[in-house]
Amino acid sequence: MARKMEDDKKMREWCREIPKIELHAHLNGSIRDSTLLELARGLGENGIIVLEDVEPVILKSSRTLPECFELFDLYHIIATDHSTVTRITKEVVEDFASENVIYLELRTTPKHNEAKGMTKDSYMKAVMQGLNNVDEVEVVLNSTQTSSNEEPETVINSFGNEIKQTRKIHVRILLSIDRRQTTESAMETVDLALKLRDSGVVGIDLSGNPVVGQWSTFLPALKYAKEQGLSVTLHCGEVPNQEEIQAMLEFQPERVGHACCLDDSHWKLLKSSKIPVEICLTSNVRTECVSSLDDHHFADLYNEMHPMAICTDDCGLFSTSLSHEYYIAGTTFGLSRDELYDFAKNAVKLSFVEDKVKKELLKIFDSYKR
Ligand code: IMP
Ligand code: ZN
Repeated sequence: MARKMEDDKKMREWCREIPKIELHAHLNGSIRDSTLLELARGLGENGIIVLEDVEPVILKSSRTLPECFELFDLYHIIATDHSTVTRITKEVVEDFASENVIYLELRTTPKHNEAKGMTKDSYMKAVMQGLNNVDEVEVVLNSTQTSSNEEPETVINSFGNEIKQTRKIHVRILLSIDRRQTTESAMETVDLALKLRDSGVVGIDLSGNPVVGQWSTFLPALKYAKEQGLSVTLHCGEVPNQEEIQAMLEFQPERVGHACCLDDSHWKLLKSSKIPVEICLTSNVRTECVSSLDDHHFADLYNEMHPMAICTDDCGLFSTSLSHEYYIAGTTFGLSRDELYDFAKNAVKLSFVEDKVKKELLKIFDSYKR
């Protein structure tokens, strides 16, 4: 028993220590619980929310689906303040870096709120300011950015290799289209993404409540994004809407998130098309898109060597971390450390970053485990 606990602890530490790539993380879903609580208390004191209603939900470590949606509403109130958006961005990037995420593709929905003087542009400025404010680690937003001259620290890692530990995280941004948006608003988001290309924006995501909105509403904007050379990923199959799933797969996005509720024909189509899947284990179980971890489609896709990446989705909302997602993937599906490491490395190829950075990231993986 004691031996098992010791092995378990070592496995958790190993999952934390290895370099990792995060490809599916929503900014506001990744807020630290302590920050969320502090901000909610402030809103409560100002009479904007009734703290007693949300505090018990924030303090819980495991939340039901309706409680998750309660928190999404709170996130929307919180994210209307520019300085708060800046603070959350800084903290989220620092949290990912602290668990050895070396590349983070962070997605967020640019928000517009006239009463608060917030436009989609000013929201994104606040996000960019947050990236600038990160001081625990160097944030690299494009491949032309010159790195600091700081001498990297030499450490011995758990493979027994001497490695240079650079305190650096590459970050790229995806702008999310919320399923509640109109075609016009979705178009605006794509235009903003194009404007911010030099600032690290590389693509577009479609997300939000999966039972809201029609595919035909978003299609013009998604097509436009593709034509303009932006990468596109879609939340696909969170609910069993087979007509929409068919249309999404025919659209051939560069990646899809989740892919839970596909019928047999779409399952075959997904596999033959080789569209990479962003796998969010904890999120899928919590939101009841899959009945249990053991029943998750990860195992089937893994056995077929389908391209996939392990991701968090909303590490604040679901009380998880990328290290924990690797840990549960390894322990649930019986992956060895070597297999998990190769899996982590393969995620580099699925990222939307420039080839030059991909090469740099692959080098880090190779030097880490020789
Ligand atoms: P934000 O875009 O930075 O505000 O991140 C939170 C938003 O991401 C939520 O309001 C949803 O629109 C979206 N989101 C987060 N998790 C999920 C999910 O599991 N399914 C669909 N949309 C999600
Ligand atoms: Zn998501």
